[in-house]
Parts: sequence; structure tokens; C-alpha cells
Amino acid sequence: MASFVYLLLLVSFLVPGYAQIQSSDQAYISLLISQRGLDFVKDLLINKAISSIVPLELPNIEKSAKIPVVGNVHMVLSNITIYEIHVVSSYVKPGDTGISIVASGTTCNLSMNWHYSYSTWIVPIEISDSGSASVQVEGMEIGLTLDLEGREGSLNLVLEDCGCYVKDISIKLDGGASWLYQGMVDAFEGNIGLAVENAIRKKLKEVVPKLDLFLRNLPKEIAVDDNAALNVTFVNDPLLSNSSIGFEINGLFMARNVAVPNYKYQHKNSKFSVFCPNSSKMLGISLDEAVFNSASALYYDAKFMHWVVDKIPDQSLLNTAGWRFIIPQLYKKYPNRDMNLNLSLCSPPIIKLSNQKADAGIFADLTIDVIEDVVIPVACISLVIQGSGSVKITGNNLAGAVRLDDFVMSLKWSNIGNLRMYLIQPIVWTLIQTVFLPYANAHLGKGFPLPIIHGFTIQDAELILTNSRVTVCSDVSYAESHEVTFFPL
Ligand SMILES: *[C@@H]1O[C@H](CO)[C@@H](O)[C@H](O)[C@H]1NC(C)=O
Ligand SMILES: *[C@@H]1O[C@H](CO)[C@@H](O)[C@H](O)[C@H]1NC(C)=O
Ligand SMILES: *[C@@H]1O[C@H](CO)[C@@H](O)[C@H](O)[C@H]1NC(C)=O
Ligand SMILES: *[C@@H]1O[C@H](CO)[C@@H](O)[C@H](O)[C@H]1NC(C)=O
Ligand SMILES: *[C@@H]1O[C@H](CO)[C@@H](O)[C@H](O)[C@H]1NC(C)=O
Ligand SMILES: *[C@@H]1O[C@H](CO)[C@@H](O)[C@H](O)[C@H]1NC(C)=O
Repeated sequence: MASFVYLLLLVSFLVPGYAQIQSSDQAYISLLISQRGLDFVKDLLINKAISSIVPLELPNIEKSAKIPVVGNVHMVLSNITIYEIHVVSSYVKPGDTGISIVASGTTCNLSMNWHYSYSTWIVPIEISDSGSASVQVEGMEIGLTLDLEGREGSLNLVLEDCGCYVKDISIKLDGGASWLYQGMVDAFEGNIGLAVENAIRKKLKEVVPKLDLFLRNLPKEIAVDDNAALNVTFVNDPLLSNSSIGFEINGLFMARNVAVPNYKYQHKNSKFSVFCPNSSKMLGISLDEAVFNSASALYYDAKFMHWVVDKIPDQSLLNTAGWRFIIPQLYKKYPNRDMNLNLSLCSPPIIKLSNQKADAGIFADLTIDVIEDVVIPVACISLVIQGSGSVKITGNNLAGAVRLDDFVMSLKWSNIGNLRMYLIQPIVWTLIQTVFLPYANAHLGKGFPLPIIHGFTIQDAELILTNSRVTVCSDVSYAESHEVTFFPL
């Protein structure tokens, strides 16, 4: 009986939340990328950026220089190619002014062809030579500041600032006259450095808009099944702290092909809150219980919570003969007739998350039908079912299971006189355990996808249930698939 009171209390608290229209742009899923997560993404980005940059062709450099003894020499560097970039150390730091990424001690290797020609008054014909050279650029610093903001439900990434500074260059010539080396170094050292700096800056200015486009084109919904999708529209600006970036998304279920209203829920806890006890996890995703209740409302409205049961493990219960001793008057009035059991939820199941606990409250009507030429409803029993749930991660899905804790039943109406409820109770209990729960768990077991960018996979997840929220704290791994590449670089 205590559980019945508890459920009534639960319902009186929660039912007003259902179908309550609130101002839009509320977020029910929050994501937090920790410093470790940012480092992971940064390394991925740097590797992707490098492989998209190299080989990088630089423009030819021409110069006339006065070389002692030799005279005025015209020199050309052509086919200058950066073919390797190696980042020694790098960091990413979010802050008030944006996200800075710095790669320091970067080296790059270039190959090039050289050519020179000169003529002197002693020898009036032109003297020329050519060969190749390799150049090592050392101690290069590359830094960029990115601005990340929310706009119209998407993320915008803008390059605020970008710099590239070459510290040192060493040139190694293959062949050539003995004077050439110093002449080349004197003439070209600065130019090669500048050419590298400009080329990298230019390339970064092309890379960031591509990332921006990718972010802006992130889907605004993720399909859950044929009927439902998760609304993953970004809400508000990202929250940048000195060691993490937070995002908020709408997070509610929305209908795909079925016409049902989209519900808005009252937001109890408007403060951005993703808390992972283990702060070294890369990613925290916190889901408000409204997410689950929006799913519940959607499937209820789409008529997925009404079943006419005509197959059960104990098939004798689908004939009035099977009820002969339990409801004698039923058998008397309709001897040896087939029966249906119509289980119909009266309202969407109410899901409540609390400290280390998930509860589900379900109100249902069980109508007993006799099948003559038509279906004749003969009695209806009201059920108040209390279940408790567990959550788990399967792949990138948040899944669950529900277990029957308790239920209370009462006769709603009857055309066949009073029923002896204590005799019916065990049958209904069995029915819930063997028909209803396995059905529910088959669906809950699949779960729904968490908002994670394609290519990333959740790893070593911990699930934390707190008051009205469930938080997934996890690491991620990245694997490029053949069909879709994450980074469009
Ligand atoms: C999805 O969420 C956004 C942001 O809260 C909201 O403006 C939009 O109406 C939602 N879409 C649907 C179909 O509910
Ligand atoms: C230009 O450089 C590339 C790579 O270093 C090399 O494969 C190619 O043969 C060079 N082209 C000429 C014309 O020297
Ligand atoms: C590239 O340059 C680095 C030093 O700057 C050097 O250690 C490395 O061997 C070079 N790679 C090639 C392929 O020449
Ligand atoms: C980040 O900010 C918090 C306060 O908001 C401060 O206690 C902490 O020292 C800062 N960490 C770094 C690495 O600057
Ligand atoms: C915290 O998370 C990291 C990364 O997943 C893991 O290596 C470490 O063992 C975790 N620490 C604890 C105390 O669970
Ligand atoms: C099942 O019962 C509900 C009421 O509990 C009723 O609205 C519905 O029409 C019934 N379905 C069938 C197929 O009899």
C-alpha cells in the first residue's frame, strides 16, 4: 500500500510537468569535454591538418645577389615542397577570448631545386648550374585562436588569429660550387622562412572554414527508430572554462513520421551541470529525466503503449474455460469462448531519476474481452505498476531495463458482477512479468543514441544517477570509417 501512496505522490508532482509548454531553447542534455578530451581532439586535428597540408608547394623564389669573386649571380629556387611536418609539443587551452592551440618546436622538411646563372666580363658566355637541396626548418611556432559560438542551433568556428614563426633554417645542397652554399644561405634564408610561414598561415586559413562548415552541418536530429529522433539542436553558446568546453543541446525526443505534438518540459535545474567524479574522463554527458519523459510521451502518443494480447505463455488463459474457477460467472455467461486481454496505458510512463535509482510509474487499464462475433469487453482492471530501472551503455547508446517492483490493482468496471481480485492478482502479475516486461525490455535494451559525433566511440563509461539526471562519464576512441570521415580536411 505504501507504494501506491508513493506513486500517487509521484504522479501529483510529475504530471504537471508533462505537456507543459515552456519557453523554447531549454537544454536537457549537456556535454562537457574535459582537458583530456580537448587534448585528444587537438591531437587528432593536428594529425589531420598535417596530412592535409603536406606535400605543400611553395612559390618559386628568385634573387640576384652579389657573390664575392664570382660577381652578380641570378639564383632561382623552384619546386619548393614541404613534405614533412613534425609537431614536437602542443597544447589547447580554452579561455574567455576563445580556444588557443599552440604547436611549438615544430620542424618541417623541404625539398627544392636550385639553379643559378651568371656571366662575367672575363668569360662573356653565361655560366649556369643546377641541383637539388634539402632544407630543415626547426623550432617553428604555430599558434591559432579560435572563436566558438552558437548560432541558430549550430556551432560556428571562426579563426580569430593565427601566427607562424620560423626560428631556424638549415640548408643542405647536393652538388654545386663551393661558394654557392654561403651565397644561398645569405640570399635565401629569410625568404624561405617567410615562404614557409606564409604557406602555413594560408593553409590554416583554409582549414578552419572547413571545420566550421563541418560543425555547422552537424545534424540537428539523430534518428532513434522509424518513429522518433533526438533533437540535438545546440542551445546557447558553448561554455568555455579554463580547462573544459561545455555544450548544451535540446535533447528531447521528437516525432519523425508520426504526427504527435512535441512536448516541452519544465526545466528544474537550469544551471549547466555535468559532474564527473573522475575528472580525467574525456567526456561527460548529462541527461535530464525530461529526455526520458519526452520519449515516454512520444511513444505513448504514437499509440505504442496499447497492446491487445492474444498470445501468452499460458494460452489456456485466453479462453473462458481457463478462467472457470477464477471468474465462474464469466464462464457461465460465455462458455468456451476465446478471449483477448487489452492492456492500455492511461498516461505516458513517468520516469524519475534519483540518487543511484531510476523509477518508472505506470498507469494502465487491463480490459478483458470475450470474442463472439464481435469483441465484447466484459471487465476492466486498473493497474498502478511500479518498476525500477537500470541504465547501461551499449556501443554509443544509452540503454536500460525495467523490473517490476510492485503493483496495485482495482476493478474499474465489470459487466459480469464483482471479481475476486485476490484470485486474479497472480495471473496479472504473471502477465506483466512474462508479456509486458519482456516487450518493454526488448525496446529499452536497444536504447537510444547519445549525441556523439560519427567516428567516435564511447569507452570505459561510468554511469552516475543523481537527482533528476543521469551522467555518462567516459573516454572516447576514434576510428575513421570508410563511408564517413569526421574531419573534412
Ligand atoms: C529542437 O530544439 C530546438 C532548440 O531548443 C527548438 O527550437 C526546436 O523547436 C526543436 N525541434 C522540434 C521539432 O521540437
Ligand atoms: C619536385 O619535387 C618533387 C618532390 O620533392 C619531386 O618528386 C619532383 O620530381 C620534383 N620535380 C622536378 C621537376 O624536379
Ligand atoms: C626532417 O627534419 C628532421 C629535423 O628537422 C630530421 O631529424 C629528419 O630526419 C628529417 N626527415 C627527413 C625524411 O629528412
Ligand atoms: C581554472 O580556474 C579555476 C577557477 O575558476 C582556478 O581555480 C584554476 O586554478 C584555474 N586553472 C588553471 C590551469 O588556470
Ligand atoms: C579515471 O579515468 C581514467 C581515464 O578513463 C582511468 O584511467 C582511471 O583509472 C580512472 N580513475 C579511477 C579512480 O577510476
Ligand atoms: C483497449 O482498451 C482501451 C481502453 O482501455 C480502448 O480505448 C481501446 O479501444 C481498446 N482496444 C481494442 C482493440 O479493443
